[in-house]
Amino acid sequence: MDRPERVRHFTKVSDLSVEEIRKILKRAFKLKERPHADRSLTGRTVALIFSKPSTRTRVSFSVGVYQLGGMALYLSEQELQMRSSESLEDTARVLSRFVDAIVIRTFAQSDVDELAAHATVPVINALTDERHPCQALSDIFTFEERFPDSKGRTITYMGDGNNVAVSLAAAGALSGIDVCLGIPEEYDLAPALWEEIQGLAAAHGTRVWVERDPERAVETASAVYTDVWTSMGQERDQGKLQALQPYQVNRGLMSVAPWEAIVMHCLPAHRGEEITDEIMDGPQSVVFDQAENRVHVQKALLTFLLGGD
Ligand code: CP
Ligand code: NVA
Repeated sequence: MDRPERVRHFTKVSDLSVEEIRKILKRAFKLKERPHADRSLTGRTVALIFSKPSTRTRVSFSVGVYQLGGMALYLSEQELQMRSSESLEDTARVLSRFVDAIVIRTFAQSDVDELAAHATVPVINALTDERHPCQALSDIFTFEERFPDSKGRTITYMGDGNNVAVSLAAAGALSGIDVCLGIPEEYDLAPALWEEIQGLAAAHGTRVWVERDPERAVETASAVYTDVWTSMGQERDQGKLQALQPYQVNRGLMSVAPWEAIVMHCLPAHRGEEITDEIMDGPQSVVFDQAENRVHVQKALLTFLLGGD
């Protein structure tokens, strides 16, 4: 595999074009069918820097890199010199001399952007307070697995206007899928992110809108998606939990959604808060497919970013 001429990063969904997303998802479908067929990362190393806990992202990247013939190097931020005694810029420069890609999960999106600005190898955002693009790319894959006629269908996201909501809306906008956000006003997306999403939707002829009424939000949904009400690094806030209660994905809410609607959750779930056991373990739920698909899609993403095609 030759290095591409231009370093490509994946710090946010819109770092990829519509055509590139199609190419990556198509490759992911092939990799899912034959997980060991591609060894294009033989001899390559991918650094995984994590400042927050992770089960799916960490394991799916580690396993994925291994299946592609490469080696993943897990680095917890506490054990690196990064930030405490070395700048992000110098860390980016040093790691770029050792490894072929850097996957990072941290708090501030600006840290990922800064790392990407100074790295000479691809930087992949594995979640920040603002975005979770790997999750969103993979979620589009899962949605299309269930609905090959995905164009013009709607994914309704219920709950907190968090990192997962932002990236899901962006990925929908770039994939011809409409996204309805069932979010109470206090927990809307930050204005700058909302504007960015609206810009993407307008540019790609898709719709992203907010519906405050939980039942109306799911009425036309092909997928009802939810995520935790308290994200990593946030304090549990009783007022927020109360305000989000009407947006819980439960039997009552799902009885209003179309019969064919699937239930999605990026996991980990706080069962009994944003989703009930009955729905999470029920026949409409695809949450564990979503978890599995992370590995297939991230393998496709890595081969794209590292191979440049
Ligand atoms: N969905 C997701 O990113 O899970 P982890 O926090 O376990 O990586
Ligand atoms: N919104 C959640 C997603 C976890 C994968 C968080 O940031 O904790």
